[in-house]
Amino acid sequence: MERTTHTPDLKGRRILLGITGSIAAYKAAMLCRLLVTAGAEVRVVMTPLAKQFITPLTMATLSKNPILVEFFDPENGAWNSHVSLGEWADCFLIAPATANTLAKMVGGVADNLLLTTYLSARCPVVVAPAMDLDMYAHVATQQNLQTLVSRGVRLVEPAEGELASGLHGKGRMAEPEAIVAYVGKMLGKDDKTLKGKRFVVTAGATIEPIDPVRFISNHSSGKMGYAIAEELAQRGAAVTLVSGRTALATPAGVERVDVLSAAEMYDAAVAAFEGADGAVMCAAVADYTPMEVSDRKLKKGDGELTIQLRRTQDIAAELGSRKGDRVLVGFALETHDEEVHAEEKLAKKSFDFIVLNSLRDAGAGFRGDTNKVTFIDALGHEELPLLSKREVAGRIVDKMEKLIR
Ligand code: C5P
Repeated sequence: MERTTHTPDLKGRRILLGITGSIAAYKAAMLCRLLVTAGAEVRVVMTPLAKQFITPLTMATLSKNPILVEFFDPENGAWNSHVSLGEWADCFLIAPATANTLAKMVGGVADNLLLTTYLSARCPVVVAPAMDLDMYAHVATQQNLQTLVSRGVRLVEPAEGELASGLHGKGRMAEPEAIVAYVGKMLGKDDKTLKGKRFVVTAGATIEPIDPVRFISNHSSGKMGYAIAEELAQRGAAVTLVSGRTALATPAGVERVDVLSAAEMYDAAVAAFEGADGAVMCAAVADYTPMEVSDRKLKKGDGELTIQLRRTQDIAAELGSRKGDRVLVGFALETHDEEVHAEEKLAKKSFDFIVLNSLRDAGAGFRGDTNKVTFIDALGHEELPLLSKREVAGRIVDKMEKLIR
């Protein structure tokens, strides 16, 4: 997470700050102050244990609002409605988020006001975990984070550094400035930055028929490409989504061209690239297709069957040869020597950058809703944390925007 001294403009934004019982709760005071300075209206909900780490008086003074901890006020019975809190907020930021609270969020446990608010919140939810390095690295915590991210919760990864335990490692809550920068980017985004631009996105798996019944294909779900098409369209671009087989609905504002084989995808992508400002090659295209397609179902015999395959055309390389000053982004999914192969592809297909997923990374690759990718360009490598595919799409489009002339 990059550190920044720039204060984002959060004027008029309503942020519900959730504080849980971690020693990092002391940083929530600074976080709250920074949010208020940035113009946000802040309300604070704390777990009962969080009160042991930072006083409600401190947080009430900084947020300029009373603190919410209990479901109701024992003095007068006034009800603290978790539903209206969730409705009020533009963003529910849980910082620090303990391993305990993260686990309860996964399980839908609702035994305090912060958790009931989480369960009823309709706004984006951001978590900034804070814990000891072994707790953070534990498979239970990692799986919980992966589940939350796949459900749309956004994660501000903890930093490496000295921990309250005296140990050194990853688990320290991200610095308040970095969290505010994240929230600022999320809530302050001008989402029509690509108005007047046109892009082609290929997505999904191609299908190479063997006979009228069988085919050769792969496990691509199309989720990553669809998320990119959606993100581009949301930022105001015209998008042609050349789609192989998927079970996904067409994102709003996107023109979808359905294709089956690699040859059909080639024709549709080349045609759409003509008037475009760029393309993202996200499809899992078959590299080989049967030499002959039988017009009758092949009958089984006693012996072996050999199907002769020939190479398909490389769509990305073809668009690369016609690139001009357009932006061209490719994907690489590898199982070994990932970075070497990705670098070769970068040059061969004239990509501006490659998004590398490794099947070795937990949470990356086919079907799932999360991804863990590395951007590779002529200047070097940038490894991103585990993110939802939608967030990865946002990062890809951010990077494309910097390249568009
Ligand atoms: O060479 P490889 O198939 O690993 O390269 C992957 C990249 O090239 C992806 O961006 C993929 O969409 C694209 N590609 C293509 N046409 C092909 C094969 C791959 O556009 N026939």
